[in-house]
Amino acid sequence: MASYDVIIIGSGPGGYVSAIRCAQLGLKTACVEGRETLGGTCLNVGCIPSKALLHATEMLHEAQHNFAEMGLKGKAQSVDWKQMLAYKDKTITQNTGGIEFLFKKNKVDWLKGWGSIPEAGKVKVGDEVHEAKHIVIATGSESSSLPGVEVDEKTVVTSTGALELGKIPKSLVVIGAGVIGLELGSVYARLGSEVTVVEYLDAITPGQDGEVAKVFQRTLKKQGLKFIMGAAVQGTTVKNNKATVTYKLRKDDSEATLTADTVLVATGRKPYTDGLGLAELGVELSDRGQIKTDAHYATNIKGIYAIGDAIAGPMLAHKAEDEGMAVAEGIAGQKPHVNYGVIPGVIYTHPEVSSVGETEESLKEQGRAYKVGKFSFMGNARAKANFSGDGFVKLLADKATDRILGAHIIGPMAGDLIHEICVAMEFGAAAEDIARTCHAHPTYSEAVREAALACGDGAIHM
Ligand code: NAI
Repeated sequence: MASYDVIIIGSGPGGYVSAIRCAQLGLKTACVEGRETLGGTCLNVGCIPSKALLHATEMLHEAQHNFAEMGLKGKAQSVDWKQMLAYKDKTITQNTGGIEFLFKKNKVDWLKGWGSIPEAGKVKVGDEVHEAKHIVIATGSESSSLPGVEVDEKTVVTSTGALELGKIPKSLVVIGAGVIGLELGSVYARLGSEVTVVEYLDAITPGQDGEVAKVFQRTLKKQGLKFIMGAAVQGTTVKNNKATVTYKLRKDDSEATLTADTVLVATGRKPYTDGLGLAELGVELSDRGQIKTDAHYATNIKGIYAIGDAIAGPMLAHKAEDEGMAVAEGIAGQKPHVNYGVIPGVIYTHPEVSSVGETEESLKEQGRAYKVGKFSFMGNARAKANFSGDGFVKLLADKATDRILGAHIIGPMAGDLIHEICVAMEFGAAAEDIARTCHAHPTYSEAVREAALACGDGAIHM
């Protein structure tokens, strides 16, 4: 048995970041993790492996579609699926090993095993019970289940199974046109699978700026993805290693089926808090199973905190990281703050899609007067040279004050470009502040400046 200032349960982006920050602030810290490797869903079976497959297949697409035009001739690329998976696995190992190194460097103890909280101030890992003045629950989330759909991680898979399929499926049905479905759907479409996305709503990526969602769907269609919209999946059956998906169209209640080699269920995630002993402790949960916390991430039980996917808010690794740092700083007596109005969202397809702050829809709903500055990547020299002219930057600013309220980008490096706007928003900047900032030429970031110029007297290259 050991005694700690803080024990964090879970080593995903929320937990490991929190552990490192606690240790940096002089707190004796341990992190409990039952997986073989640190890093949680994100590093082991989420963000990182999917990005490796996205990168590899993007390269394939580039080679197949644009090399010849650039005068790059030679043998066409073919896919060695086993090798691609090995590359993905190496990427995972490099990253999870990196966290282990950081734990050692910062003197964070890794308590190996699954943790539970027998009582406030105590964490049980295996047969050992450790003491902690503060306990942070950072146990993340798991794929939510869909009635009538039995996941076997072979034919009917979640994102976990989709990252290590035995072979590239000839046909893939994706249930849910959210972030996971579209990222992994893109991977397999580029690998030659016939991909059909079945979505309950009439637009893809719920909560996204409507205009971006439309352009995004059109772009994915051009890439070969098929969409069946307004369709509620009723269930799946598996026979002879093939899965049949039954869905009902919302407009007329008619039922239809689709059969495919693989079905990916991507209809959302739910907090993962099994086995912690929360009910026995009396920790309050919302009706969606999220741990209830106050603004300082404290639960209703003294000394127990929760962060990340296990609590309310967007299920994003970087939101969990920010909360992980904030809870550590709060425990150490500082006064941290997470600005939930400036949390970027990125979809790592090609082109990428990113957003921050308000959408036109949310501003209309609030009855706020706003202006739109838009610039197409077609007017950006660098994008044109790189076959990346599809897409645009859209900046939303307050009509009277010019203060930036939100931004939505679909296009090359959208996931990186958004951060200039995030910083500007943190400083309460006006669109004119970005418009008057010199941007290097030729860069994609000029499109952000042009969108800011379009909020004022007009973009130059449009
Ligand atoms: P999601 O919530 O983004 O999308 C799920 C979609 O499934 C919705 O469009 C919903 O309308 C649809 N749906 C639900 N039930 C259905 C049914 N019976 N039939 C047809 N469609 C149905 O969920 P997703 O993609 O599974 O992602 C889970 C979480 O992981 C999200 O919070 C997401 O933000 C996060 N994530 C973020 C990533 C990123 O930031 N790049 C990458 C991967 C996941």
